[in-house]
Parts: sequence; C-alpha cells; structure tokens
Amino acid sequence: MTEIPEHLLKRSKERKAALSGEAPAADAAAEPGTAVEPAAAAAPVAAAAPVPEVAPEPEPVRVAPYVEAYEARKKMPYWIIPVLLTLPVWAAMYVGTLERVPQGLTGLLGEGEHLYVEAGCSGCHGAEGGGGIGPALSDGEVHVTFTSIEDQVVWIAQGSAIVGTGNNYSSADSPRPRAVAGQMPGFGLGASNELDMEELLAVTLYERTQLEPNEEAAERELLLAEQMNLMLETGELEEILAGSELSIHDVRDAATLTAADVAAYLEPARAALIADEG
Ligand code: HEC
Repeated sequence: MTEIPEHLLKRSKERKAALSGEAPAADAAAEPGTAVEPAAAAAPVAAAAPVPEVAPEPEPVRVAPYVEAYEARKKMPYWIIPVLLTLPVWAAMYVGTLERVPQGLTGLLGEGEHLYVEAGCSGCHGAEGGGGIGPALSDGEVHVTFTSIEDQVVWIAQGSAIVGTGNNYSSADSPRPRAVAGQMPGFGLGASNELDMEELLAVTLYERTQLEPNEEAAERELLLAEQMNLMLETGELEEILAGSELSIHDVRDAATLTAADVAAYLEPARAALIADEG
C-alpha cells in the first residue's frame, strides 16, 4: 500500500467534514488547548452527521454549449405531431396527381390506352408518354409535330422505315418539322403488329387526349372520340362507312395510305358533331 501523505489525508477529512456539515469541529476538538470539550462537541455532531440538514451546495453544473443551445431553442409545438403524421399521406396524394393514374377509360379511348401498352408503344415512349427510345409524347409536342389526327395515323401506320431516315415525318404545316432518325416500327398492313383503322385511331386519340397537356386541342379531340365511340356502339359508323365501301376494321397498306384516306373514317363523327353544334 502506498503511503498517503498527511496533508492530503487532512484535506480529504476537511472536505468530508464540510460536505456533511460537520465543520472543522472535530479537528478543532482534537487540537489541544481549545476551549471546547471533546465530548460536548462530538455529541451534536454525531446527531447531525447521518442526516445533513443543509444540502451541500451543488456545484454549478457545467453545460456544453451545444446542450445549452438545444435548451434555449424554441421547442416543437405539440400540434405539429399530427401534422407530421399526415405528411406521408399528403405526399402520396401529391405524387398521385403527378403520375397519370389509369383513368378507367372506356370505349375507344380505353381501347387506345390498352393498345398503347399492348402494341408496344409504351416500351419506347414511356408508360406515361415521357419518352425513352422514342420521343416524349407527353410534352405537348405531338400536336406540334402532327397538326392533324390524320397525319399522326399515317405516321403510326408507316413508321420510320417507310418514311425513310432523314425524311420529314411531321405534318407539312408543322411549325417545327421533324426528320426520322430512329427506328419506329410501322403498324400498317403486313406489319408484325398490324393495327386496323379503329385501333390506329384509338391509340392516336389516346395519345393526343390523354398523354398531352395540350388542353384546347385535346378537348376538341375528346369530343370527337366520344362521338365516334357513340357511333361505333350504335353501329351507325359502320353503316355510313359501308356506303363508301369502307369498314372501321380495314387494315390499310401503309405505303399508300394518305391523310385523306384516314379522314374518310373520321368524317361521319365530325359531321355529327357539326350537326350537333348547329
Ligand atoms: C421501337 C421503338 C418504338 C415503338 C415500339 C413505337 N415508337 Fe413511336 N417513335 C419511335 C421513334 C424512334 C420515333 C421518332 C421518329 C424516328 O426518329 O424514327 C417515334 C415517333 C413517334 C411519334 C411522333 C412524336 C413526335 O412528336 O415527334 C408518335 C406520335 C409515335 N411515335 C407514336 C407511337 C405509337 C402510337 C406507337 C405504338 C402503336 C409507337 N409510337 C411505337 C420509336 C417507337
């Protein structure tokens, strides 16, 4: 055992005494020549020792600056908790408005929505028309590329190969002409994935009214799609087309297909709309 120096022992004793409120009494008593009688001094001390009445003065607690900053900061109000809890719900709803949720389209547009995936368009143009191998269809550009439904139908029937690389595939009056640079397959007669007139119109109207934010044009074309759908359901369209020896289920040779050809299939619905307006 190491010897503890006397002065340290003394200091320790004094410290202990101070903490228990004993004061230097004990020491004073021990010292010879003091007036206080040892027994008298010891008695009150012994009584006081077990339960010190005066709590030792707490040393000032030293707080780290960052803890101090934390404590000084304004606390989060309780009402924020339910608000924070509902945040994910709100976020999910917000995201939902950004992504075009399948709208449960029926009739001609529902057919178009189905074909957009089934015929492989979504594989190149994105499920929401955001683009990929093929250009975006959801950026409002399609109405610029094709100023008419007919021109777009002809393009989809023909594809890049028939139009030819470097050739213009947009409408003749497009303010921003586009040339073929990629490889979009055609969907006309004999194509590995051939579509009939109803299908070509369905997917075209779907793209133009559902994927594009061009609201004014889309609204007009939406009315046309609804009218066509009505006339398809009643059989009226087929009846009228039969008068020109046409059928909505014609599969046309894309190499010779023109916008005027396509217009013939749209004509009955357009005429009905004009009649409705007048
Ligand atoms: C293999 C990929 C691919 C597939 C499948 C595909 N496309 Fe395309 N599409 C393209 C490419 C590439 C272009 C650009 C023309 C080019 O450079 O050849 C394009 C252009 C278009 C455009 C013109 C967009 C613009 O504003 O310039 C439309 C509309 C379009 N495609 C519709 C369709 C439809 C409808 C389908 C399905 C029936 C389809 N595409 C399937 C690759 C594809």
